[in-house]
Formats: sequence, structure tokens, C-alpha cells
Amino acid sequence: MPSFSKCVQEMRTSEIRDLMSLATRPDIISFAGGMPNNDLFPVKEIDEIYNNLSDREKKIGFQYGPTPGYPPLIESVKEYLRTKNLPVDSNELIITAGSLQAINIVAKLFIDPGDTVITENPCFIGGTSAFKSYQANIESVPLDADGIIMDQLKRKFDDKSKNPRLVYLSPYFHNPAGIIYSEKRKMEVLHFLAGKDCVLIEDDPYNELYFDEKSKQLTVPMKTIQPEPVPICYIGSFSKILGPGMRLGWLLASPEIISKAQLAKQSIDACSSTFTQVLANQFLAQGKLKSYVENLRIIYARRMKIMNDCLKANMPPEVKWVEPKGGFYIWVELPENIDSLQIMKESAAKGAIFVIGKTFDPHGVRNNCFRLAFSHTPEDKIEKGVKIVSEAVKAKLK
Ligand SMILES: Cc1ncc(COP(=O)(O)O)c(C=O)c1O
Repeated sequence: MPSFSKCVQEMRTSEIRDLMSLATRPDIISFAGGMPNNDLFPVKEIDEIYNNLSDREKKIGFQYGPTPGYPPLIESVKEYLRTKNLPVDSNELIITAGSLQAINIVAKLFIDPGDTVITENPCFIGGTSAFKSYQANIESVPLDADGIIMDQLKRKFDDKSKNPRLVYLSPYFHNPAGIIYSEKRKMEVLHFLAGKDCVLIEDDPYNELYFDEKSKQLTVPMKTIQPEPVPICYIGSFSKILGPGMRLGWLLASPEIISKAQLAKQSIDACSSTFTQVLANQFLAQGKLKSYVENLRIIYARRMKIMNDCLKANMPPEVKWVEPKGGFYIWVELPENIDSLQIMKESAAKGAIFVIGKTFDPHGVRNNCFRLAFSHTPEDKIEKGVKIVSEAVKAKLK
């Protein structure tokens, strides 16, 4: 057996990936994968776009493209981000192979082995894996219903030997916690980080998926505040709207950071898929995004309501969760002494699966919680699945 590099030795297979094999069994009701529903993809619209492309554009799609991205798509994404008041003119934008690649690139730019990265706990597993692959020392901070807990975040900066290089936050419709940061908490974060020698990653792939107008107001990115009190790498994605198979995301940051990001990307994949960039550009340029996401919001809001109502009707009172205002997830918290793996085994045997809590704990410990994704499950299966999970919880709490 060859000896692997230190960074590979840090890698662990994700329980989500292992569970994906179960999730494809037709008899299983899966709340596991954090993915959009297959039936909602804009297949017809993309067919039409492709068929109407000129030969020249089709050929561009098959060819390598510039590392920062297909220029018309860069312009279309900038135009789109301008509508959110993001500072696209004083910053630069690079198209990436999904937001996970953007996170990886930022980690590559700022992390040397042993450097500290602060994450939320729970945290998107792709983020933690990316930081671990650069041998970062991860310090995690718990969340409450309004965002990262400030006292605990501040304490992480007390130990001068740790000197955090990156703070990774996913403030909008959090994966897996399902929460959205309050305006006040975002301001507290920015105020606290002001002038610190670190970079804030604002990871925002679910921004469009708010369930009502009041919640939309909470989706205003921290990056819109200019001049920024701390350098912010703002990351977005088409994955949760057009589809993860497009493998398209973006990174908006200062020209200095983007110029290094281009170098980093050159060493990874030269360019993101030109083929999907050509298609995504037409989708945006033809103004198709607005009505498409309006429909997604209605459908995901309905699914969330079915799941939330069913949890309310079936879960014992000791079980807690925050009703999501958008996104894909409900994060269920059980009493401290309950192990969600036991619930998972019981529930899988009866036909419903989800992802256990410790998958999202950067330290792989905390397990009295689990994530239910309502995005992918057919509407008529949600109630049955939640009842199965609730029965498994009740049996353990007896
Ligand atoms: C918070 C968060 N960030 C990033 C990603 C990665 O998305 P992608 O690389 O498909 O854009 C995900 C996907 O689940 C996510 O939930």
C-alpha cells in the first residue's frame, strides 16, 4: 500500500454519500440528500435554449474557455447580483465549478497547514471537508435561531496563538440548521470582525429560496455593506436553482483575491464547463430565472409546511426544531442523551432515512440531532416518512 499524503489521511467518507445508495431504493422515503427535486429542473427551457443556439455558440460550448468564466455569463451573473445590491463594480467575479469549488479555492488561497478556520456547528460538510483537506485546524461555534453565537465566536479570537485566517458562514437558509441570520446578528458579526486579520466567506447558495416576502428581506448579503469591514468572499451557485449537474457557481471578491483565485483555479480545472455556462447565460439573459424561481419557492414552501405540520402533530414535546423561512432543511434536536444513529437505524428499517447530526459536526461528535431535507421527497410521501421517523423517536424517548 503506498503511503498517502497527510491531507488525504484527514479525509473521511461522508455518511451522506454512504446513505445515497440506500436513498435510491424505490421503497425508501428519503429525507437524506440536500438536492433539488428532479421534476423541478428546467428541462424544457434548457432544451429550447440549446436548440436555439447558433452553431458558433454550440461550438464555444464544447471548447475550453477562459479561466474566470465565459465572458457573457460573467456579465449576466454580475447583472443578476447587481439587483441584490452586491458590489459587482468594485469587486471581480469568477465562475467556478459549483460553490464547493469556490470554497476550496478560497481555502487554498488562505490556509497553510495548521491555520485556524472558524466554522459554524453544525456546518455544511463540503465546507469542513475542504478546510480539512488543507490541513486546517477547525474551531467550530454553535448556532442559535438567529445565527452564530457571538460570545462563543469572540472567545475563539481570544487565544492569540490561533489567529483565525478564515471565518466560514452560511447565513441564509443554513445547511443543515435551516435557520437564517437576523439582521442584528449579521451586523454583530461584521462589527466584531472589523479590522481583524481574517477573511469572511459568505456562502449563499439558497438565497433565492425564501418562502415569503418578509423572509426575503433577511436575505440581503453582508457583502452589500460597503466599504466592507473585513474582506468578504461572497459565494453563490446555480446548484439549488437550475441544478447541481450544471456545476456552476461564482465567487465575488476584491480584485486582489480574484486574481489569485484565477491562478488557483488554473491548477485545478483550467475552466468550468463552458457547455453549461453557455446554457446558464441564456437562461439569465432571456430573463427566465425570475418566473422559474417563483415557482420553486411556492413548491418548496408547500413541502416545508407539510413536513413542519406533520412534525408538530407527531413529535414528542422534548423534540425541538426551528421552522425554516426558506431553503431545503429542517434540523431536528433531540434530548442530549439520544443518539440519532439509533433513530436512523430504526427508521431505515421501517422505510425512511435522513442524515444524522454528527455528519455536520466538524468534530464528528454531536449526534442528538438530525437533518430532514424536504426538497427532494415527493409531496405525497412526506407525511408517511415523517410519521416513521417520529415513531422511531417516540420509541427511544419512552
Ligand atoms: C451551504 C452549501 N454550500 C455549498 C454547497 C455546494 O453546492 P455546489 O457546489 O453544488 O454549488 C452546498 C450544497 O449542498 C451547500 O449546502
